[in-house]
Amino acid sequence: TEPLKVALLGCGVVGSAVARRLHDDARDLAARVGAPLQITGVAVRDITRPRPESGVDASLFTTDAESLVERADLVVELMGGIEPARSLLLRAIEHGASVVTANKALLGEDGPQLFEAADARGVDLSYEAAVAGAIPLLRPLRESLAGDSVRRVMGIVNGTTNFILDKMDRTGAALDDVLAEAQQLGYAEADPTADVEGYDARAKAAILASLAFHTRVATPDVYCEGIMGVTAEDIRAARKIGLVVKLLAICERTDEGVSARVHPTLVPRSHPLGSVREAFNAVFVETELAGQLMFYGKGAGAEPTASAVLGDLVQAARHRLDGGHGPGESAYADLPLLPIAQS
Ligand code: NDP
Ligand code: HSE
Repeated sequence: TEPLKVALLGCGVVGSAVARRLHDDARDLAARVGAPLQITGVAVRDITRPRPESGVDASLFTTDAESLVERADLVVELMGGIEPARSLLLRAIEHGASVVTANKALLGEDGPQLFEAADARGVDLSYEAAVAGAIPLLRPLRESLAGDSVRRVMGIVNGTTNFILDKMDRTGAALDDVLAEAQQLGYAEADPTADVEGYDARAKAAILASLAFHTRVATPDVYCEGIMGVTAEDIRAARKIGLVVKLLAICERTDEGVSARVHPTLVPRSHPLGSVREAFNAVFVETELAGQLMFYGKGAGAEPTASAVLGDLVQAARHRLDGGHGPGESAYADLPLLPIAQS
């Protein structure tokens, strides 16, 4: 069978782990897909930097991402940020490629435009890695629970801030001292302000609320308060009375409408969310029929995130071969959004 051409946009923390696995597991992946997945190019900013960890041949690195996406069957966007990621994904879709992205910032801002473009062209746009890293969460919300009615999604969806709050709780350290460690471990965003100010969790809450309630919630619709105001003293005081500070995303659907918010919350230590350590994530989903479900796992980092990206890639590649495509997201209900002040 002819190989499927894969264009990789970005070869940083996550991109290099994805490339490495495509290289090392090429034979197994080809068997699972039904055709080899061949990397035809990797777009980066700096093509002079050696990247032996990725396993990618040096001749495949390019700064010409536009041409790369036009020649691909499958485009994997792991560069982050809004532009040029948005234009490149739209260009890829326009040229008939299926796309996989982990870019929650882009989806929280411009998801609808991308979903409509993908649905119109009949290609996959998948983004399991954009929320809660390795945890299979979006596919269950979109597919397994499609016949149920989700009332609430609540949990820890940012690994960096959980790592920081957990370290502050266990060691008494100050926030700034722990942030550098989270960056070194590959958990933080390129600009870690997005993590500590809650913007990353806010974009994820928008994605979760949109999927869970089959509606459109964009990043600005989500109330957001980060952890910059949380001091070592706050954490000590909480500890004394059996509580722990966690940054929670809470998305709810009531008879009045939909609300989503992100803020530091005092959680009893005995609650399952109270014992989530390091960069792990945990999300509770409450539905009318299923009742309560809990999803738990590594929420950030190279390999956990690569797992989710590769799952999407294998699925999209299978669809290329069988002529199908994933469930479109253009159709949605226009539910009222509760004003942020009432959330
Ligand atoms: P990095 O900053 O480590 O890597 C970004 C890569 O994209 C680099 O290789 C960079 O090139 C390349 N790049 C950036 N801008 C451009 C551009 N304009 N043109 C060409 N190449 C560009 O990011 P991460 O791997 O950590 O994250 C990638 C995406 O995955 C982001 O959307 C992030 O939010 C998301 N994500 C990250 C997780 C994590 O744990 N790190 C978890 C879940 C999602 P160069 O190397 O030359 O600078
Ligand atoms: N910076 C993000 C986090 C990466 O810490 O959760 C995973 O989305």
